[in-house]
Amino acid sequence: MNVHDSEKIAGVLAREGYCSTCDPRKADIIIYNTCSIREKAEQKFYSELGRVKSLKRKRPDLKIAVAGCIAQQQGRGVFRRAPHVDLVFGPQNIHLLNDLLRGGSQAVADEDNPLIADMDLPVVRKPGGRAWVSIMYGCNNFCSYCIVPYTRGRERSRPTENILKEISELGRDGYREVILLGQNVNSYKSDTDFAGLLRKINSVRWIERIRFVTSHPRDLSDGLASAFEELPKVCEHLHLPLQSGSSRILDLMNRGYTFDEYKEIVTKLRKKIKGLSFTTDIITGFPGETEEDHEDTLKALKKLEFDGIFAFKYSPRPGTVATLMDSKVDDAVASRRLTEILDLQDSITLKKNRSYEGTYQEILVEGPSESDSELLTGRTRTNKIVNFRGRDGQTGSFARVRIVEGRRHSLLGSLM
Ligand code: 5AD
Ligand code: SF4
Repeated sequence: MNVHDSEKIAGVLAREGYCSTCDPRKADIIIYNTCSIREKAEQKFYSELGRVKSLKRKRPDLKIAVAGCIAQQQGRGVFRRAPHVDLVFGPQNIHLLNDLLRGGSQAVADEDNPLIADMDLPVVRKPGGRAWVSIMYGCNNFCSYCIVPYTRGRERSRPTENILKEISELGRDGYREVILLGQNVNSYKSDTDFAGLLRKINSVRWIERIRFVTSHPRDLSDGLASAFEELPKVCEHLHLPLQSGSSRILDLMNRGYTFDEYKEIVTKLRKKIKGLSFTTDIITGFPGETEEDHEDTLKALKKLEFDGIFAFKYSPRPGTVATLMDSKVDDAVASRRLTEILDLQDSITLKKNRSYEGTYQEILVEGPSESDSELLTGRTRTNKIVNFRGRDGQTGSFARVRIVEGRRHSLLGSLM
């Protein structure tokens, strides 16, 4: 979500003639697009922000802007902690950036924007064949630990027609995969529901792959499961945040499902869709989490065998209900639990990845591999990262590879 917001910020600035530079000394404006989902991101941001102070001192005309959820959450408070900042604007106010730049010093845009879903901002995307596309904004779920409903506001769906127009253009521009974005895509509601939207996108010319994040288990309807099964372009991967294997903790988190209900969804979908891969999010150390609850999470990971997980220590976020809960978990305990979760999942992921060895996969090539610039990288339909020795000019197109090795975080492929 945040990465795509940056693409929109770049789009809005490009309209005014700006282009991007990797060298901060050459920049006329430096923008921090921040995340406030966990405290760590916030700390990192403030230490980064301190580093541009000297640049600003040398060149007072340089503009420093803070965007994203920290901007939204702290508003003017950012100026108090960092007086060298010129503007602050939240994720709902990217469209105002050029006005803010023209305006006076220390400007803030942190209002709720009820029209966000009707505003189509220009986007500057990287090459690589895949494109993020917003389909809805905000969130109404109010999970008790989460700050998103406070920073991104209420749920608002983009009109179907606008989404289809953007995706058709992406197809014409050479993109082959779209990743539909929203905090809770399953509750998309405009001229059609989410399953209906998928059906429409499935018939867009040139687009060969459709993915979406993030789904909420509570809203995963049978209609969506059928769309998943029937539509050939919808990829066999689902990111479905579980958060905890303990139904007691899920209740405290206000997630709206029990572990058994979650398990049923996974079982049903696995039966319907051959080769479906699952990934999830886990939070450990939520207030009141006992050793037994933690064991439930480990058991859940063993039972469900996810292809991969993102696991985090619970981080108290200002204004959320969970901060008022008693029985905080000791940080050392939470760290130990996190390690146990990650170690267990590592072995499961490795096993899953090894099961790909000897198979043939179609991958969409994204560009040079981050770990080894001699190799190209791409993804399978199941969202596995594959590195392989490729040819020039393959970025953005499909390649067929044979998987020669399944590793912990990726697969190694050989071009056919
Ligand atoms: N502490 C830790 N993890 C969190 N997440 C959201 N809020 C918090 C928090 N306060 C995690 C959830 C969510 C993912 C995007 O971030 O697991 O699914
Ligand atoms: Fe946060 Fe829950 Fe909304 Fe996801 S569904 S953004 S975790 S409140």
